Amino acid sequence: MTTLHFGIEAMCDSLPRELKEVKSRCDESLSLVQKLGEDVRNISSELRPGMLDHLGLVPTLKWYIAEFAKRIGGLHIDFQTVGLKERPGPEIEIVLYRILQEALNNIAKHSEAKHVNVLLTYSHPKLICTIKDDGIGFEQTEDRVPFGSENQGIGLLGMRERVGSVGGTMDIRSKNAEGTMIRVELPISLREAGD
Ligand SMILES: Nc1ncnc2c1ncn2[C@@H]1O[C@H](COP(=O)(O)OP(=O)(O)O)[C@@H](O)[C@H]1O
Ligand SMILES: [Mg+2]
Repeated sequence: MTTLHFGIEAMCDSLPRELKEVKSRCDESLSLVQKLGEDVRNISSELRPGMLDHLGLVPTLKWYIAEFAKRIGGLHIDFQTVGLKERPGPEIEIVLYRILQEALNNIAKHSEAKHVNVLLTYSHPKLICTIKDDGIGFEQTEDRVPFGSENQGIGLLGMRERVGSVGGTMDIRSKNAEGTMIRVELPISLREAGD
């Protein structure tokens, strides 16, 4: 999509001034491509990997972690679950899946970590997920936003928003040279009688 965007843009720019009508059509196409890009992004963020529905949360996370570790050489990822006997519901599952994806991407991209510990604990009425790396960490401002984050991706902010959207909380603790820990707490109501 980006290639298409730049291609059309270059085409627009290279048109001679006289071809006003062609140029305006070209501009229209450009804004269509932009709109399309936004739509695609919105739609794909709604999508759930089919595996989540078919196999459930824990096997999907296990699979994702194994694939991720294969792709990123030299990174050992440990995954444990405690007390999670039932599935926490589709909304919570997708939030956790996306959180893990972004956290691991960040670890691969920024942390220089060798080990990661992922722990998923069900402690009524919450599901707690911690993702801890032994990498270089980063400086945080008082409200635990990384310095300079305005110029960077929306990863951590997006994570916080996702967690917030299901009534959960997220805490990030990171210090230079001391690694990073992300802790997410999500309220879950298991679909049991009397719950
Ligand atoms: N696990 C981590 N280890 C070290 N630094 C991290 C880690 N996670 C995030 N960061 C820092 O926080 C910044 C913001 O992360 P994020 O919001 O995901 O944006 P992006 O990944 O696009 O830079 C990163 O640029 C990086 O400096
Ligand atoms: Mg990121």
